[in-house]
Amino acid sequence: MSKIDVVLGLQWGDEGKGKIVDVLAGRYPAVARFQGGPNAGHSLQFDGKSFVVRSIPSGIFREGSVNIIGSGVVFDPTVFREECANVSKMGIVPQEKIVISKKAHLILPTHRLMDAALETAAGKGKIGSTLKGIGPTYTDKVARHGLRVGDILTPDFKDKFEALKARHIREFASLGFECNPEEKEAEWMDAIEFVKGFKLIDCEYFVNGWLEDKPMLAEGAQGSLLDVDYGSYPFVTSSSTTIGGVCTGLGVAPSKVGHVYGIFKAYCTRVGSGPFPTELFDETGEKIRQIGHEFGAVTGRPRRCGWLDLVALKYTVMIDGVTDLIMMKADCLDSFETIKVCTSYMIDGKETKEFPFDTRAEITPVYTEFKGWHTDLTGIRKEKDLPKEFKDYIKFMEDYLGVPITIISLGPDREATIER
Ligand code: IMO
Ligand code: MG
Repeated sequence: MSKIDVVLGLQWGDEGKGKIVDVLAGRYPAVARFQGGPNAGHSLQFDGKSFVVRSIPSGIFREGSVNIIGSGVVFDPTVFREECANVSKMGIVPQEKIVISKKAHLILPTHRLMDAALETAAGKGKIGSTLKGIGPTYTDKVARHGLRVGDILTPDFKDKFEALKARHIREFASLGFECNPEEKEAEWMDAIEFVKGFKLIDCEYFVNGWLEDKPMLAEGAQGSLLDVDYGSYPFVTSSSTTIGGVCTGLGVAPSKVGHVYGIFKAYCTRVGSGPFPTELFDETGEKIRQIGHEFGAVTGRPRRCGWLDLVALKYTVMIDGVTDLIMMKADCLDSFETIKVCTSYMIDGKETKEFPFDTRAEITPVYTEFKGWHTDLTGIRKEKDLPKEFKDYIKFMEDYLGVPITIISLGPDREATIER
């Protein structure tokens, strides 16, 4: 019996999951997405080329890999078809490498419109959604009137589609929102025909059957602090981005889970609204944004930037049961005189190391400072060549978090990776 190992983002998304899955995928014959949808933007870089995948798993570029879009995913056929067109340019035949769960829910054109309408209606309280229809699709799923990928093979698919669309039109009217639901419909229906060219699977049987003799890698989207239960609610996404999402999203038992790789950046970023205790509003934040190219892969929005928050990180390491840490982008801090990490919070005059329930609380981060290493880390490929200041810095983190950092990524390319 083989295991399913898991890659999870431990912050607010954009940790570099795409790169790491691409690196690890050389060792796993299958990669599965288990939640989220095209709100994800996973960047990969190799042989001088870069790609962004959104619903396609990041194993797609590895030879002979099988890439599973699991049951917990919300799936937009239009976006998927565009992505397939992109990877086809690399000589990949997507129909040979991607399978899709019949139980994944479909994002309709009206779900996307609803996302925009709800955000507009929320005004100042908006989530800062990527507007890909994620929230409204999960809402319909939980309310038990969603449409699933497997429905496209049933004779009354069109009727089911019309019924859901009619429901959405009524909701638009109640929000006083005008829309043209037919605008994107023909394109969407065409994309549905395209999806019929793929193998549609019973995900739970497929995954469990696979694990009888071959390992698999599960690729998380978003980050644990955007989890619908444990994230900074309500400023979260609508899926389970933490470890439990793997089991429900793919139909596998917890006993089948092996390594849990937790990815974090050496600083923090966030797109969209919501609390961010270590956010920097000064030139240091701007410097991180510029050096780290912290602009959204999907939306192009500038990301909010701040120092690494170990309180929040320890919280997600605990929830996810992380066995191996992967640190990204420390090279972006190469030129800093002083590097700070938040090791506790002051809330109402009390110091705590726990992530609070009320994320609106006034949180003052307490920092531990490190001397910068003033070395270009990007060319380093061996642990022994790392500067002492940097080694001290990562040792501190390992001690604080109680989990080893087994991979250090020092640049976007596949090759810029040190394994320890
Ligand atoms: P990857 O997989 C960063 C954020 C949005 C918004 C909130 C809800 O690339 O790390 P949604 O569209 O899901 O309703 O938006 O979550 N968000 C992400 N932030 N990376 C992502 O994905 C994200 N997916 C959603 O900005 O604040
Ligand atoms: Mg992203």
